[in-house]
Amino acid sequence: MAESDIQRGSWNSKAGFIIAAAGSAIGLGNIWRFPYVAGENGGAAFVILYILFVILIGLPVMIAELAIGRHTHKNPIGAFSRLFPKSNWKLIGIMGVVTGIGILSFYSVIAGYTIGYFVKLLSGQLNAISGPAESQQIFATFTADPYVSIGYLFVFLIFTAYIVLGGVSTGIEKWTKILMPLLFVLLIILAIRSITLDGAVKGLEFYLNPDFSKIRPSTLAKALGQALFSLSLGMGAMITYGSYLSKRDNIISSAVSVCFFDTLIAILAGLVVFPALFAMGMDPAGGPGLVFIVLPSIFHKIPGGMYFGAGIFLLLSVAALTSTISLLEVAVSYFVDEKRWTRQKATIIMTITAFICGIPAALSFGSVEWLSRLPLFHIGMLDLMNAVFGNYSLALGSLLIAVFTGYKWGINAVKTEIEEHGNRFGPFGLWAFTIRFLCPIAIAIILGYILITGHYF
Ligand code: PHE
Repeated sequence: MAESDIQRGSWNSKAGFIIAAAGSAIGLGNIWRFPYVAGENGGAAFVILYILFVILIGLPVMIAELAIGRHTHKNPIGAFSRLFPKSNWKLIGIMGVVTGIGILSFYSVIAGYTIGYFVKLLSGQLNAISGPAESQQIFATFTADPYVSIGYLFVFLIFTAYIVLGGVSTGIEKWTKILMPLLFVLLIILAIRSITLDGAVKGLEFYLNPDFSKIRPSTLAKALGQALFSLSLGMGAMITYGSYLSKRDNIISSAVSVCFFDTLIAILAGLVVFPALFAMGMDPAGGPGLVFIVLPSIFHKIPGGMYFGAGIFLLLSVAALTSTISLLEVAVSYFVDEKRWTRQKATIIMTITAFICGIPAALSFGSVEWLSRLPLFHIGMLDLMNAVFGNYSLALGSLLIAVFTGYKWGINAVKTEIEEHGNRFGPFGLWAFTIRFLCPIAIAIILGYILITGHYF
């Protein structure tokens, strides 16, 4: 290993990398965002599109990002300028760093709420919930308090900063390894409870039996955005994590595992949410509050449910944390590599930036009227940031990454990188086709259509 690699750090083991990358991918995107976006966009038909986009666009772009990262051993901006010095391709990286901080800001607001719910459940404040209407009321009151929202946002960012300060492998690997499998087990238990509720069948039908007449152009954009968001693609998180990979590691099998586990957890989250939601007669298009309203309404139907619920929200906070570390790490690795800042300085400054940008999002659940429904856009600040950074910027970033690897850096360069140290790039032809044609064309059509029709949100 070169001197500079030792200073940057690398993963302790191959499993360490997969775990960390899966930790970045699995988070609120799967458990908070996926069910409510699927609920708003027609259920099963959306789920099928989502899975198609994971396989046809997400997986190829993930392979491209990991190859760029490992080849250059650099942050997303440095990676492009190392491959093509003085070219404009580094703009992809700059957009990625900005997007990363943008996502980190609003994401940490929701992540903060998961800590809040953990505390609420543990202290017995949700014991006497009578049903979804009350659960809804509790969520609304909780999130409309500006001190609570900003306070938890702050707490969550401090946790994130603390781990990023510790550096890449010691901090990230240790946490993810034990807690993600536990989250998986608790979700399975919850899904079983949800599916066995009276009236759950209607929910299963909504979730699993597609009605393709419900697909609109904006459904395509949302399914694409959701796939990219959930897999942490399009803004360089996987370039950054790939830069800590060693040449021995197999990029293809790592990418396949990450996509598989990420999708599995999202599907499972849907199996928890939709049966319960229909059993209780709620509206599937309930918006960003959905899991916070549905989950507490089922906990009291389980023995010891409030502790169980506290466990779920705690693990959800941890899942969110392993994602926010990757968001922060993108910007931090850039300032450390390129601007020669110390890790400490970069972490502190970027965390403060995310905190400041997160405040308007934290105030958009009713505490400040105009932030909760922005003039012109007619949606709240958090929803706007979610759409801009969490959908469109990732789609544009992925499009550019596909064009870059397909035409500029070249498919053969990727093949060479992947096959170093004897690994084989089996489905190379298929990958090359998707990255050169399918990904750029599909994303361009979807973005173009949205631009023309103006159905942005
Ligand atoms: N993939 C993460 C999640 O699903 C969010 C994320 C998006 C993380 C983009 C990094 C980059 O929660």
